[in-house]
Amino acid sequence: MACSRNLGLLTGAIIGAVLAIFGGVLIPVGDNLIGKAIKKEAVIANGTIAYQNWLVPGSSVYREFWIFHVLNPSEVLDEGARPKLEQRGPYTYRVRYLPKENVTEHDDGTISYMLPNVASFEPEMSVGTENDTVTCLNLAVVAAPALYPGTFMQILLNTWIKSSKSTMLQNRTVKEILWGYTDPFLNSLPISVNPVLGVFYPYNGTTDGLYRVYTGTEDITKTAIIESYKNKRNLSYWEGHCDMVNGTDGASFPPFVKKNQVLRFFSSDICRSIYGVFQGKKIVKGITLYRFTVPREAFASPTEVGDNYCFCTDRVISQNCTLAGVLDISACKAKRPVYISLPHFLHASEVILHDVEGLSPNEKEHETFLDIEPTTGFTLQFAKRLQVNLLVKPAAKIDALKKVKNPYVFPILWLNEVTKDFRVSQCFIETSAKQRVKIQRQKISLMVRGFTLSQLYPKEPGTYSPPSQHHAGTFVRIVLSGKKRDALQ
Ligand SMILES: *[C@@H]1O[C@H](CO)[C@@H](O)[C@H](O)[C@H]1NC(C)=O
Ligand SMILES: *[C@@H]1O[C@H](CO)[C@@H](O)[C@H](O)[C@H]1NC(C)=O
Ligand SMILES: *[C@@H]1O[C@H](CO)[C@@H](O)[C@H](O)[C@H]1NC(C)=O
Ligand SMILES: *[C@@H]1O[C@H](CO)[C@@H](O)[C@H](O)[C@H]1NC(C)=O
Ligand SMILES: *[C@@H]1O[C@H](CO)[C@@H](O)[C@H](O)[C@H]1NC(C)=O
Ligand SMILES: *[C@@H]1O[C@H](CO)[C@@H](O)[C@H](O)[C@H]1NC(C)=O
Ligand SMILES: *[C@@H]1O[C@H](CO)[C@@H](O)[C@H](O)[C@H]1NC(C)=O
Ligand SMILES: *[C@@H]1O[C@H](CO)[C@@H](O)[C@H](O)[C@H]1NC(C)=O
Repeated sequence: MACSRNLGLLTGAIIGAVLAIFGGVLIPVGDNLIGKAIKKEAVIANGTIAYQNWLVPGSSVYREFWIFHVLNPSEVLDEGARPKLEQRGPYTYRVRYLPKENVTEHDDGTISYMLPNVASFEPEMSVGTENDTVTCLNLAVVAAPALYPGTFMQILLNTWIKSSKSTMLQNRTVKEILWGYTDPFLNSLPISVNPVLGVFYPYNGTTDGLYRVYTGTEDITKTAIIESYKNKRNLSYWEGHCDMVNGTDGASFPPFVKKNQVLRFFSSDICRSIYGVFQGKKIVKGITLYRFTVPREAFASPTEVGDNYCFCTDRVISQNCTLAGVLDISACKAKRPVYISLPHFLHASEVILHDVEGLSPNEKEHETFLDIEPTTGFTLQFAKRLQVNLLVKPAAKIDALKKVKNPYVFPILWLNEVTKDFRVSQCFIETSAKQRVKIQRQKISLMVRGFTLSQLYPKEPGTYSPPSQHHAGTFVRIVLSGKKRDALQ
């Protein structure tokens, strides 16, 4: 694969690292030069390098799904036992490969777009086929009493649940549970409701809404920051500051990322803004990346982190907002009792974790991180992980839920949205290796031929052009600002 032009910017960033080989003095010079290029090319405006990368994501993104299979269905149905769960997966789909749609540049330094949803199955990255069957929660039966709390309605619903032979659990294929199936209970209702449902139904051909982001042309520090989502600055799902649409969409951040920054981003999957904090440096294929992780505090209970008070909307499961780790997003899911958590209830309170059996949370597999190239602010690799759960509640009038003893959060599946291997990586390596060779050659040729000072400086020291063309100038300026100046003079 040929290295396309949109790699140039990132290559530029790497030059800094390459130059650093020649000594600490090189870094400020390199940063300054790169800084100028970044300021020109990192903004999201038609024609810049960043624009290409922004329009169509530079690397392949996958969603790996693990579906929770219930090992003891008869005990759960007949005795209201704790479900014993076993995760089945990964079932991998390639996502986010379509270009952004309805891209419109506005006069106020913003650009709006929609992100089309698409998922295509990747059999060779999956444990089985989409036809694999799992025993899982019956979404329609469990959601019904939450949508219709009235006794009379529940008595009616109960008759249709029974006549359609639905129970609290169901057998479904992976494809059905993810992308939709016709539910027998909903299908038997005499009122007109869409009988198709699935955790991500409908997906293909939909978008998660209109985004309007700052291009950075007016203020580079606002590059990619969301100005509005669905034409609003607030979501209207939460109270107070929890409702704010903060930061970017996570795909990139304003350039010159610092370790002490809190990187805010909005995720429509979890219906909220969240944030990452610096965790450490990662060298991936020779490139230094800053790893930002979503910290445990982001999911802590309001008793621990006061600011989280407005994310506590369910007093039952959270035991009056003293428990951590699950987010009630029913306000954003048409009142369906959907709860989001980290996979395997990572960072959640023990009580929530122990309402089901078979989960084993660990940070390495279940946390969310973004690896960001700090100079450009591009997220080069990431793993966004979340678990989708439904709240199961006893309902006296619905026989299928009679055995449920206490309300609890029932995991359905978890997903890892991940870049497998950033496609540009090979180019990075090649380009950076070429630069290294070039620098070595120039170094040698300088030594061999000798140079007068006037020849050593680039013609216009204040302007920056692509490193590949003016590299000699850069190198020499750097050398002259360092120890070797004595030798040359
Ligand atoms: C970007 O600019 C090119 C050439 O000027 C033009 O053909 C293209 O339609 C523009 N794209 C958008 C989204 O405005
Ligand atoms: C994009 O805009 C066109 C025309 O304005 C509209 O028909 C289309 O539905 C929009 N696309 C999306 C994904 O909303
Ligand atoms: C979604 O679209 C992709 C690409 O067209 C296709 O491969 C996939 O099967 C579709 N998924 C569903 C659930 O229809
Ligand atoms: C899955 O099941 C459908 C319908 O039963 C069948 O047409 C399809 O070939 C199956 N796919 C695989 C991969 O087994
Ligand atoms: C799921 O399938 C298994 C095996 O075919 C069967 O024993 C079980 O009763 C089914 N469960 C439900 C909820 O339909
Ligand atoms: C959004 O919410 C914040 C925090 O509560 C508030 O200060 C701001 O005025 C709200 N903005 C709009 C447009 O409603
Ligand atoms: C949004 O950002 C403001 C600071 O700019 C912060 O106070 C608030 O808590 C953030 N909200 C969310 C939901 O992250
Ligand atoms: C929550 O608080 C209410 C009143 O403040 C109390 O009646 C109830 O028992 C509390 N529930 C839990 C689970 O602590």
